[in-house]
Amino acid sequence: MVSHLPTHLDAEKALAVALAALGALWPRRAVTLTPLKPLTKPLRATVFRVAGGPRPAVAKVWGPGNAARAAAQAARQAEVAAAMACGPCRVPGVLGFDAARNTLIMTDPGGESLRTLGERGAAVAAQAGGWLAAFHDLSLRAHPFRPAGHLAWAADLKDAVRSGTRILPEPEDFAARIDALTPLARAARGSPACRAVTHRDMTLANLVTGGGAIWGIDFENARQDEPLRDLFTLALDLCILAPGATGRETALAALRQGYRREIATPEARLFLQQAFALGVWANTPVMPSRRQAARLEAAQWMLGFGEPVI
Ligand SMILES: Nc1ncnc2c1ncn2[C@@H]1O[C@H](COP(=O)(O)OP(=O)(O)O)[C@@H](O)[C@H]1O
Ligand SMILES: [Mg+2]
Repeated sequence: MVSHLPTHLDAEKALAVALAALGALWPRRAVTLTPLKPLTKPLRATVFRVAGGPRPAVAKVWGPGNAARAAAQAARQAEVAAAMACGPCRVPGVLGFDAARNTLIMTDPGGESLRTLGERGAAVAAQAGGWLAAFHDLSLRAHPFRPAGHLAWAADLKDAVRSGTRILPEPEDFAARIDALTPLARAARGSPACRAVTHRDMTLANLVTGGGAIWGIDFENARQDEPLRDLFTLALDLCILAPGATGRETALAALRQGYRREIATPEARLFLQQAFALGVWANTPVMPSRRQAARLEAAQWMLGFGEPVI
């Protein structure tokens, strides 16, 4: 059955729903809310900082059409918060989840996201890498490197580009890069590597500061995957923020140093770096937005390396 419930809420509606959820959780408190994201258009999830409650909090409210997503995020965050409750790398605890209002209420670390601090380059990169390592450590396990799934994906993509069912920028260069994955896969197949439950949206915007710690937010995925996917996402985000090659190389070195773990051989890391960068390219429309163009430029910059930078 197709759901007709709204997936997005406008600012006024989101505010009203968040206030109702907070009223149910803390009936005797008069709270005030400040948006943590610009409220210029209806959003899938609207996030407010909550003042006036028994403790600093953040409320995140989804549209009713995203009820399953909201519940999954609340459940997963509660799980990870319990495992990362102290030390320098943490996750905000869940104070309440109002399933009728699709509203998650969590503790507020009090700082700002690493995206807004991104111009501090290397320091932010090292902190991000450190948090990601602590998160992966919860589920990391040895598993020989298997590129078959990535190669099948790449072959399908190349066919789709050739037949015109998929349209993306610079299709010939793209196809040549896809072909170059095969020898890289051969060199990496079967090498010692690891799997872990990944974050799957590991951007700098999903890491926040506060109380001398780094806090991860915005959880959902609970499945084992390629942990280097998260490292790649952070690397790409750092490259988008860093203007030139020197700044980028410094940031990526700091990211690796912060992450510290050698979870795959250089051959496997190079293969994955190329595959993930091609994934960004594959998702870029021919007329990209500014953000999409910046992502593509950073991904193509990473594709130019013959050695792993993650
Ligand atoms: N506790 C917090 N402290 C500071 N900023 C936050 C906090 N929670 C969320 N934000 C800001 O709000 C943004 C959106 O929150 P997030 O939960 O990641 O929602 P979305 O699902 O839209 O990405 C974050 O990227 C971050 O910039
Ligand atoms: Mg987010």
